[in-house]
Amino acid sequence: MNTYVTGTTIRQLRETRKLTQAELAEKIGVSSKTVSKWETAKGLPDISLLQPLAQALGISVIELMNGEYISNRNLSANLLRSKFYVCPVCGNVLHSFGDTVVSCCGITLPALEAETADDDHAITIENVEDEYFVTVHHPMTKEHFISFVAFVTSNRLQLVKLYPEGNAETRLQLRGMGYLYYYCNRHGLFRKKK
Ligand SMILES: [Fe+2]
Repeated sequence: MNTYVTGTTIRQLRETRKLTQAELAEKIGVSSKTVSKWETAKGLPDISLLQPLAQALGISVIELMNGEYISNRNLSANLLRSKFYVCPVCGNVLHSFGDTVVSCCGITLPALEAETADDDHAITIENVEDEYFVTVHHPMTKEHFISFVAFVTSNRLQLVKLYPEGNAETRLQLRGMGYLYYYCNRHGLFRKKK
């Protein structure tokens, strides 16, 4: 655990929910003075209070701990807010069209930052009938491989999982404006506009 709930998070969430310190305190069975102490960094809620506190504030414990809470503002999801997350333990791949808090194997995963392809991660895209044949020029050994290729538009995700000892290639329907993403287990996420 590398983060714990902060007083600032508690105060912001409480104010967003239009609760007074006394009202929040009553919901979780503490005094308003206790809530005041948390919010002014003079104390921290006991771990046994995290679940009731999250519930009273209408969010998950993970969101509470991270200080990142997802209000219903995903309506304006756009291409640039598209995020990928990869679990370093099990290799699970997750995608979101907006900000979110993701955890896998007990780890909170950061949203990956995509880079422009370099010479060691070059990609070619060929037209094949009504699809595109995408090839990443990269090794596919157990130690170093491309683990997925994805094409994201503002409303659509195509994601193809790749495995070591397979080929770093796939067919995709590249319709509309979007970004092609691919992930190397050692060098991270790459992105190409299409
Ligand atoms: Fe690589």
